[in-house]
Amino acid sequence: MAIERTLAIIKPDAVKRGLAGEILSRIHAAKFQIVAIKSLRLTKSEAEGFYAVHRERPFFGELTDFMSSGKAVVMVLEADGAIAKWRDTMGATDPAKAAPGTIRRDLGTSIQYNCTHGSDAPQTAAFETGYFFSGLELI
Ligand code: RTP
Ligand code: MG
Repeated sequence: MAIERTLAIIKPDAVKRGLAGEILSRIHAAKFQIVAIKSLRLTKSEAEGFYAVHRERPFFGELTDFMSSGKAVVMVLEADGAIAKWRDTMGATDPAKAAPGTIRRDLGTSIQYNCTHGSDAPQTAAFETGYFFSGLELI
């Protein structure tokens, strides 16, 4: 496998519930390197830009309200096959369908409030990383 980078977010539901530390511990335990990290609150329009691929979906309004509802922790993770590896660490979108031991299964409370985000392909990872971080922050 090749070394990859992926964009991960600890979503506002998890930050509000005090779960950022637990999720960062799981990231370290899974042997990702944190290349860059910051805490921020997205505006509604920044959340709409980030999730633009979903703009026709019925949950787009709720999703972007949620993602702009409080602080999130945004980071770039690096590992061998980081994109698939982080999605495996998170588990399926719906916590009820996620495998035991995954973040979403253990900590998520609904398909919307599922605690974390991860890029789903190399192109998406490149777009999402550039959405939050400058080249200088990624050296
Ligand atoms: P993410 O992009 O956040 O990593 O999640 P994902 O790839 O597993 O799922 P995706 O289909 O990209 O959905 C993005 C986020 O929208 C919310 N969602 N709500 N109410 C619903 O039916 C519904 N479906 C998806 C979730 O927060 C999901 O992570
Ligand atoms: Mg997605």
